[in-house]
Amino acid sequence: MDYTKGMVLGVLGSGSGSNMQAILDAIDAGTLDARIALVLSDHPDAFILERARRRGIATGVIDCGGFRTKFPAEAQAATAARLQDAGVDIVCLAGFLRLVGRALLDAFPERILNIHPALLPAFPGLESWKQALTAGVSETGCTVHLVDEGMDTGPVILQERVPVLAGDTAESLHARIQAAEHRLYPAAIALVASKLAPRG
Ligand code: GRF
Repeated sequence: MDYTKGMVLGVLGSGSGSNMQAILDAIDAGTLDARIALVLSDHPDAFILERARRRGIATGVIDCGGFRTKFPAEAQAATAARLQDAGVDIVCLAGFLRLVGRALLDAFPERILNIHPALLPAFPGLESWKQALTAGVSETGCTVHLVDEGMDTGPVILQERVPVLAGDTAESLHARIQAAEHRLYPAAIALVASKLAPRG
């Protein structure tokens, strides 16, 4: 039985949405058997929402009550309800800049993924490619992991290594990591989907 058949994804993002685009491209190419049912953002002007609208995907804005970085429990509960109403099986954080807590985690146990631009546990937090350059490492990468209450701390699902090259700038390294992310995220979703029990 193909457990990945019809896997329904919900995506949360705060920015450009290039990783969501990569997920859509993998679906189009037939390498990921899924569909994106709903895209939510905490920023009404985020380009990820525009990308979704262009594809006819339902979108929504998460109201965080004016808090700049906090993800209030009420907003998490409302987000969980919208995702559940859309029939979402797996929630993909794709450049979502708020820390998820119990209200959302408990609604989707072991079913919330995040992509991070470093080989976790190295360089958690923001602008990890700059952290890698500052540390002088010869190799960094990207990680897809299950989300828990910590910042970039959940169990690793897949990682891809990316070399740091002589003469790399923050921009060139970030671009190379993003290219790897776009391969890694669809592959990690397919892996998680293959391990989930079929619905119904
Ligand atoms: C990615 O680099 C991801 O690793 C980080 O945020 C960025 C999102 O980029 N969590 P995009 O919005 O998918 O283009």
